[in-house]
Amino acid sequence: MSEDNTTHFGYQRVNKADKAGRVADVFHSVAAKYDIMNDLMSGGVHRLWKRYTIEMSAVRTGQAVLDIAGGTGDLSFQFSRLVGPQGRVVLADINDSMLKVGRDKLTDRGVAGNIAYCQADAQYLPFPDNTFDCITIAFGLRNVTDKDLALASMQRVLKPGGRLLVLEFSKPKSPIMEKLYDHYSFKVLPLMGKVIANDSESYQYLAESIRMHPDQETLKDMMQNAGFERCQYHNMTNGVVALHMGLKP
Ligand SMILES: C[S@@+](CC[C@H](N)C(=O)[O-])C[C@H]1O[C@@H](n2cnc3c(N)ncnc32)[C@H](O)[C@@H]1O
Repeated sequence: MSEDNTTHFGYQRVNKADKAGRVADVFHSVAAKYDIMNDLMSGGVHRLWKRYTIEMSAVRTGQAVLDIAGGTGDLSFQFSRLVGPQGRVVLADINDSMLKVGRDKLTDRGVAGNIAYCQADAQYLPFPDNTFDCITIAFGLRNVTDKDLALASMQRVLKPGGRLLVLEFSKPKSPIMEKLYDHYSFKVLPLMGKVIANDSESYQYLAESIRMHPDQETLKDMMQNAGFERCQYHNMTNGVVALHMGLKP
């Protein structure tokens, strides 16, 4: 197998053609417990990271928003309120189990009329060029096989002047935080996964995939290479998470 045909799945090297299936297995497995695990694992802090993302999106009434890898719909829920009846939100995800949990949750919360659900791969977005005012991908990009392809696809479907926001785990800034974080993610997370969701493997993948994801500067370069301009990032929780932003010229 040549180097070009392989990629990482956590710390394992797998054939590129097999990665999406392995990622799909993880999210089919965690979908039902995804929200509760998110709250437990982050101590609720993921809500603050997402709130900041919503604020920085500057989404307004009447706009069109794509929440790709949107999963259980936390961002889409807020966007639906922000764009109002004249706007529209597409909650898209490659995984039908995650999408179903998201659709049921948002429907139960009364979100309807300005939202559509779409099973789609971030690498091959099924929308015309220049469709969206804003695209978000939260904790999704690290799972995508070809991140450059996904960034180019998002660039294509954004309108000129539109904004991409990538919320993702990143590299902690202080060595002490890095050590604590390593301990937490490789010891505590898989144990929580085992006890609460009876699934330590998925949470082991979570920890490993975070370590394999490009750091802040590398992701910023990738966004620039995909044609975004005014790219910048904002570290949160000492760089455990970073929000990258870029505009389509
Ligand atoms: C950790 S969840 C994040 C869900 C949600 N955005 C949030 O922040 O809570 C990652 C999501 O990425 C989705 N995903 C993985 N690969 C994808 C791809 N190539 N295209 C679209 N979605 C993908 C998974 O199915 C999963 O729902």
